[in-house]
Amino acid sequence: MSSLKRKSHKEDHVFSKRRQRILDLHPEQKIGEMEKHSVDAKFEVHPRRKYDTSPATLRRPMFIGDFSLDGKRQFFHDKRNLHFISLDWHTSKKVEYDLNMALDKMTRKDFEETSTEKLDRLLEWILQNTYKFHTKDSAEKPLHCLSTDFVCFRGLLTELLCTPYENREGWIVCATKFCSTIYLCAYDTPEKQSRRENETDLQRKMSAWGYKFEHYMTDGSNTEEGVNENEEYCCVVRSRLESHSLVYGAEVDGADPSKYKTPHSDLKAFVELKTSKELITDNDYRSLYRFKLKKWWSQSYLVGIPRVVCGFRDAEGIVHTLNTYEVEDMPFISKDYWKPAVMLNFLNKFLDFVKIHVQVDDPEAVYKFERQPNGGDILCTYLGHDPKWAFLPKWYCEKVFHS
Ligand code: A3P
Ligand code: MG
Repeated sequence: MSSLKRKSHKEDHVFSKRRQRILDLHPEQKIGEMEKHSVDAKFEVHPRRKYDTSPATLRRPMFIGDFSLDGKRQFFHDKRNLHFISLDWHTSKKVEYDLNMALDKMTRKDFEETSTEKLDRLLEWILQNTYKFHTKDSAEKPLHCLSTDFVCFRGLLTELLCTPYENREGWIVCATKFCSTIYLCAYDTPEKQSRRENETDLQRKMSAWGYKFEHYMTDGSNTEEGVNENEEYCCVVRSRLESHSLVYGAEVDGADPSKYKTPHSDLKAFVELKTSKELITDNDYRSLYRFKLKKWWSQSYLVGIPRVVCGFRDAEGIVHTLNTYEVEDMPFISKDYWKPAVMLNFLNKFLDFVKIHVQVDDPEAVYKFERQPNGGDILCTYLGHDPKWAFLPKWYCEKVFHS
């Protein structure tokens, strides 16, 4: 498909209006030489205070569907891996969960393997649910677009939300525009890849503890059995951040059976599970409030999950205490360290930036957005047709608007 077709005067006008808008938003940016099909632009993350204004609004995320992945990461259009998690206590409970139980019987998730999945599972769900993307105007006609600005996984949005407070890790996000929707896909940075390859036994064990905790919390589970980390239950939600409409997939840990009732329009009955080191020193509290709650808040807020249950474990992997945190309370608990307004405004501005630069509507064309490590800026590069980075599969593009 040739994407480099000439744009009309009207499109040129829209384009320059958009360019003006981003210049107005970020006058310090050097995007003067921006080309329509070969972008090289910079988005400055810092200073953070520029996002500390009234928060961009994230509309209540609406549940639009779900799917499961089995132990071999095969897609099933059903709820087979939806777990139920009974919360039979108020805010805190004493327990004795040994997270080392049946660790030798577990099946590890191969992150190298799962990273090759890119957006495939979510795209599979879209293919099977195209009827959910019809609007009033397109009801009787063949579908020709998804009527959403962005499609991605929630994890990518979580990472973006945390970016203004992240001064070490970089990230890579690739973008492809197809039939007016921008698909976003996260890629591992070389640093992350090398960390994965050089994971220590302790890191591996701690990762396994997180999954084992989910196993303990799942109603009716037999904890003497091993966990298969490949199994997942994913919800798909629709939301909007200011002018940006979004459809994203999110793995969720489970639902409270006393609140769960289908059909449901949101994820209020769902629960996120986490583990953390027991809180003993001031530094443990600081680390929870400063780093962990920020991630938990971002992850849960994006899908409208109202509560997170944390299992606090000792150094040997025994959970002694369960604590429930209300997601809406987290910004107050952590008020000295991070602010939702900064995170939401940053995400909103970054999505503006992506929309302005990702102009070529071609499923094989890729734009790369790369946050430099150590608190650097975000660089945007137009890669054109580059099989190394292209992520929208043919099977999806050929079928989605022809079924
Ligand atoms: P903890 O978050 O309790 O450490 P999630 O909380 O996102 O549902 O993930 C469940 C568990 O999977 C995590 O538990 C962690 O143990 C493991 N996990 C998730 N993402 C991971 C990653 N990128 N690398 C290693 N382990 C990961
Ligand atoms: Mg979890």
